[in-house]
Amino acid sequence: MSGGAGEDGTTAVVPAAGSSSRFGGAKLWADLGGQPVLAWVLRALGDPASGVDELVVVAVAEDHRRVLELATAAAPRLGCRCVEGGVRRQESVRRGLSACSRQLVLIHDGARPGLTPELCAQVLRAAREVGAASACIPVSDSTARLSGAHLTEVLPRAQLAAIQTPQAFRTELLRRAHQEALRLGRDADDDAALVLALGETVAAVRGDPRNLKVTRNEDLLALRSWLSPGAGGRQWA
Ligand code: CTP
Ligand code: MG
Repeated sequence: MSGGAGEDGTTAVVPAAGSSSRFGGAKLWADLGGQPVLAWVLRALGDPASGVDELVVVAVAEDHRRVLELATAAAPRLGCRCVEGGVRRQESVRRGLSACSRQLVLIHDGARPGLTPELCAQVLRAAREVGAASACIPVSDSTARLSGAHLTEVLPRAQLAAIQTPQAFRTELLRRAHQEALRLGRDADDDAALVLALGETVAAVRGDPRNLKVTRNEDLLALRSWLSPGAGGRQWA
């Protein structure tokens, strides 16, 4: 893969090339408090407190112009580059990785507008120490393993977490994980899984329930209800 990844600092890679099939309509451009969902992500990354100093957005080519416009408005501190997406998220991230020039990379889904600069900074701190880190939240429902339509085992909840992004990695480590996945035809929902498959450690950082992924329309309704009316609906309550 090309790209030096030699410079000190952090590149944020934002996968934003999905087809929003469960949402039905381009969810990253849906309105949330007067701005597109994606603008919230770029604004959090653009805050100096996030620790991010380079931005790569992975998007379909026809979106590149509006992504660059949005990034100029929402994250003027960061020079944004757009990279063409892949068929699956994993391929989109792999393409984004090839454009990273920093030693650390922070991956955050364009579909999670509840990101805060503080959560980015915490995940980056852990990744700097351990090599890899992921935001996770405790599971509040009991959880079971299924076989078809039957429960086969109820899992011990205290040992489980729901995985969010941001996730952060030493860039070299995540590149190795993606190369290995490509070589073996390994497919995973997230980047931490690819790093774990190498036998490496991934630190768990407490995420935020409001860092919800917009998957279906009801997720967007929940996010809207968490906005502060007093701030013109442009801030979290
Ligand atoms: N994503 C991507 N490239 C893909 C698929 C997904 O960059 N080929 C991005 C999405 O844009 C989103 C994030 O990965 O920001 C998480 O994916 P998901 O929530 O599944 O979004 P979609 O794939 O767009 O939605 P769906 O699965 O319902 O089609
Ligand atoms: Mg998807």
